[in-house]
Formats: sequence, structure tokens, C-alpha cells
Amino acid sequence: MIETGDFSFDNRLVSAEETEEDTGLERGLRPLSLSEYIGQDKVKENMAIYIEAAKRRESALDHVLLYGPPGLGKTTLSAIIAREMGVNLRITTGPAIERPGDLAAILTNLSPGDVLFIDEIHRLNRSVEEILYPALEDHAIDIIVGKGPSARSLRVDLPEFTLVGATTRAGQLSAPLRDRFGIVQRLELYTPEQLTDIIRRSAQILEIPCTTDGAMELARRSRGTPRIANRLLKRVRDFADVLGSGEITQQIANQALTRLEIDQLGLDSNDRRMLDMIIKGYGGGPVGLETLASALGEEAVTLEDVCEPFLMQLGFLSRTPRGRCATQLAYQHLGYPIQGTPVPDDGQLLLNDKI
Ligand code: ADE
Repeated sequence: MIETGDFSFDNRLVSAEETEEDTGLERGLRPLSLSEYIGQDKVKENMAIYIEAAKRRESALDHVLLYGPPGLGKTTLSAIIAREMGVNLRITTGPAIERPGDLAAILTNLSPGDVLFIDEIHRLNRSVEEILYPALEDHAIDIIVGKGPSARSLRVDLPEFTLVGATTRAGQLSAPLRDRFGIVQRLELYTPEQLTDIIRRSAQILEIPCTTDGAMELARRSRGTPRIANRLLKRVRDFADVLGSGEITQQIANQALTRLEIDQLGLDSNDRRMLDMIIKGYGGGPVGLETLASALGEEAVTLEDVCEPFLMQLGFLSRTPRGRCATQLAYQHLGYPIQGTPVPDDGQLLLNDKI
């Protein structure tokens, strides 16, 4: 019998999804320029060239699509892009733009060169998306005036602007929308070394004493995600203040994270329960994502966006055409004897089935 209770991502310390507390914390920690931004070297190098070229031509930057798991700095990058271009940034999200009129109001208020950042752009509804196409391509929108037989289409010119779209699921964007982005950049999970640098920088800004070993311990358990690293830094500071001298050392970090049930590799009880379910409930897999999600009482998209990128990066989970499989490394990590062949022989890995 496998326990499925309290499988919850709400308030989960190692969830990459943004909480209200993160918004406040991140605002103060956000790097303001590409040179201050740690990691994502390829993205930074490319963006620096595109920004410089657009500035030399005195034109707006081409539209940019940023995709990758949550918590990696897509909003931060869009703010840096606007700042480096010397223009205003307008931030919104796909689900917040409910009607074509909402988007028309935003677009007609932009100034030349401005950056419009739309987070979760895969969640724009179709009627809104259709307004966006001529806006992106021709810098104009067609507004319908009147109703019935006397309705007329009125073309309104817009200033040249840059759309920065962000999504955790580029595969869900419609082809016409995806094709309108001249610049497409994938953000990767951060290495422990990069996260150590981010934690040290954040600790300095927040005036939290933290040794290099302490920062490394937090980094190793932050699931490749700066948002989680900064959150752990803030939580572990409480333990350092109460149980230690106020300084985050490796020993304090270890003690605190053990109490918070975040293991040596950054897995929390939800990750372990997901792997447990695959191993004990489905013989190690393959098991379909939907089946797994309903067995755990969780949404498939949450497992896919929040748990899976990290478990796959650790090599604990593989995606095959027939479903998810726990790997031998996952068996080892959870202390199970290796049984059978966890990855089926005929299972061709679907490494890029969801980008
Ligand atoms: N804080 C959060 N993400 C960061 C990054 N990539 N570089 C520097 N500081 C950060």
C-alpha cells in the first residue's frame, strides 16, 4: 500500500513556482545588468550581441522567447533586456489578458522600443493571440468597430516594440506564435557552482554571514534553481540565528535542511513520494504521466514542470514513449535494491518531447 496523502506543492519549500514572499525577496536580489547576472552564459552572450546590434541600428530588439523550467530568471532577464536597451518594461501574464481589448489597451500605450513581457505566454487565449500577430509583424492592430453588418475593421498603428514571451512549455505555443519570435533562448538549470555564486551574492545583499561551504551546501540542495536557493538562504538564516552564531556554515545548513526534510540532493518528500510511487506502485515504470498524477492526487502539469526537470537532470527519471521510468540511480538513492531493468530495452528516450 502506498501512501498518497499530503502530496502537496502548496507552500513547498523547494517548489520553483513563485510565491508572494518570493516576489518581495527577488525584487531586492535581482541583478540589473547582464554582467551582474550569474550563469546562463550562452543566453547572456547571445543577448549581449542582439542588444548591441539593435542599439547600433537604433531599432527595437527583435521579439524574444525565453523558455525553460520555472524559477530560472526569465522575468529578471526581461528586465535586464529593457534596462540595457534603455526602454520601459511593461509586465503582464498570458492569463491576465482575457480579451482582445485588454491587449489592445496595453499595446496602444507602449512607447517606441518598449519591452512588453508576457509571462506564461502559452496561456494566452486564441482571440487575444490573433490580435498579437499583426502587432508583432506589422506594428498595427485591427480593431473591429460597430456590430453586425455595419461592423468595420479599423487599423491602428503601433510603435515598434519588443515582445519578450516566457514559458515553461514552448511545445504548447501555437506554431504561428512561435514563428514570430526572432530570438528563441532556452534557460537551463544552474550548476551547483553557479548557485553557490548566486547565494553568496544574495547573502551579501541581505547581510547574512555565510561561509563558502555553507553556500555550497545550500547550492547542492537547491534543485538547480535560483528562486529555491534564495528561499533556502532566507529559511536557513533563521536556524543560524537561533541554533548557531548567526553565520550559515555547512554544519548549520546541513542541520537546517535535514530538519526541513530536503535531502542531500535537494529532493523533498514530494519528489521521493513520486519516485516511490513509480517504483513500488508500478514496478519502476513505465507508467503514464496522467496515471501517475492521479495516483498521487496531483496535476500532471505540476509533476511535469516542477518535479520532472530536476529528477531528469539528476538522472533519476527517464521519459520513454510508454511512460515514466525510475532509473537505477533513483533506486540507489532511495535505498531500494535494483529490480529488473528499470529502463525498458525497447524504450527510446524522449529527450526533447517537451521543450
Ligand atoms: N539572483 C537570482 N538569479 C540570479 C542570477 N542568475 N544571477 C545573479 N543573481 C541572481
